[in-house]
Amino acid sequence: MAKKTTAKKKTKKADKKKNIKSSPKKQAKADLKKLRAMCYSDDKVATYIPGFDELIQGGFKRNSVNLIAGNAGTGKTIFAAQFLINGAIKKKEPGIYITFEEKKDKFYLDMACLGYDLQKLEDEGLFVYLEYTPEQVRNVLIEGGGVIDSIIEKIKAKRLVIDSITSFSLLYEEELSKKEAALSLFELINKWGCTALLTSQNEAEREDQVKVSLEFEVDSVILLYHMKAKGERLRALEILKMRRTQHSQKTYEITINANGIKINKNKIIKMSL
Ligand SMILES: Nc1ncnc2c1ncn2[C@@H]1O[C@H](COP(=O)(O)OP(=O)(O)OP(=O)(O)O)[C@@H](O)[C@H]1O
Ligand SMILES: [Mg+2]
Repeated sequence: MAKKTTAKKKTKKADKKKNIKSSPKKQAKADLKKLRAMCYSDDKVATYIPGFDELIQGGFKRNSVNLIAGNAGTGKTIFAAQFLINGAIKKKEPGIYITFEEKKDKFYLDMACLGYDLQKLEDEGLFVYLEYTPEQVRNVLIEGGGVIDSIIEKIKAKRLVIDSITSFSLLYEEELSKKEAALSLFELINKWGCTALLTSQNEAEREDQVKVSLEFEVDSVILLYHMKAKGERLRALEILKMRRTQHSQKTYEITINANGIKINKNKIIKMSL
């Protein structure tokens, strides 16, 4: 009898260790608790863009696909580049920048103007610049990774930028095939284990309106503005959505200067943009 009780006690102890509950109801509750803890885990990928991470509880979700959208000259490329460069410098997380639009020399010079030495990061294996045509990316999708697979594997990339997704979307005429292609791209990003930031043009006809393709498919949407108010242009940023995150609901003034982008969290834009 005594032996039986000891054995029972032992099983109970082992179950407790493995978090196995005595009833299915209790087990389901424990599983849900575990999942919720996972949702709000601190596994965040900080952008280190001054003033930004605190608006989104510390950074992007690891392995998420995020979109930064705005009109021409709103700062999409600089924001995306800072996300990669800061990760490489501060966390030694290698990043890959895929572009359809920028030329390498021009891009490296633009970044040098902001104080970043991309050639040095490239030599250290922390940065890869890839100029791809949208057709080449389409082939990567068809091949299920292809060349990009091996580059990601080689440098062990953790962050990825596609600048911009608009040119890629233009390859597909029908809305459905556009979405299907985007979803296969997101699946690949997931397979690569990267946290991604895609830039996108604002497709609305009016400057004060926003129409972004793939807004429903991505994990987050950040909007950038460069609006004319009282004869002067004003830069601003807002987070339109970010899944599983209690993000800020405000629109903040931002500045771009020789040090890059900075969010002025004390300057909230009250007018409707
Ligand atoms: N070194 C700098 N000093 C001050 N402002 C700068 C500097 N570099 C860029 N800017 C500002 O940032 C703007 C361009 O930012 P960026 O290239 O990131 O915009 P974008 O949204 O990617 O534009 P596009 O839609 O044309 O690709 C410039 O028009 C300028 O106003
Ligand atoms: Mg750009």
